[in-house]
Amino acid sequence: MSELIQLANPNQRPPQLKPEDLTLRFSEQAVKELEALISHYPSKKSCILPGLWLAQREYGGFLSGEAIAEVACRLDRSFAEVQGVATFYSLYNTAHQPGKHKLEICTCLCCHINGAWNLRDYLVKKLGIRHGETTSDGMFTLEEVECLNTCDRAPAMQVGSEYYGPLDEKQIDALLEKLRNTQESTVVQYAADVVSVQLRNDEK
Ligand code: FES
Repeated sequence: MSELIQLANPNQRPPQLKPEDLTLRFSEQAVKELEALISHYPSKKSCILPGLWLAQREYGGFLSGEAIAEVACRLDRSFAEVQGVATFYSLYNTAHQPGKHKLEICTCLCCHINGAWNLRDYLVKKLGIRHGETTSDGMFTLEEVECLNTCDRAPAMQVGSEYYGPLDEKQIDALLEKLRNTQESTVVQYAADVVSVQLRNDEK
């Protein structure tokens, strides 16, 4: 006789994470910032996206499982729900720890017509990495992205909060050199910039 298999109730959500089960890493300042961000919304659920930006800053630019779990815990949501949101948007780094600088080269139509693929190939050769990969020194991650909405500067690239273009090989060389000598991670700085924009109204 076959055994009955107990199916999960589809209306039953996975249990929420408890702080005691996690190592929480948000700084005191980040906890306060999250409270301020939560106050902008009618419910904690609405604060998942800002909470993830905060976590991306606090966790060095990478939303690891622990980072997602901390956001879920602090917003009283399930891990699955927050992970589902985080992995939907390409601006969140959920696949792997990115390099100190993420080179997001646009290969969409305007940039394509203006030589983006040649520049992409130049970067691949110069850095020895392909799409989605990071240099062995952890300095650069290369990503091909869709339109950056700066088509007037095609071929264009985004690094952190900055847009560069129209680019040629010489300018790419100069930009890489400048980034190599930059102290801060533009990946972390980008997350910090987004958080500060979201908090701006609180400063008035
Ligand atoms: S097509 Fe590259 S920025 Fe729009």
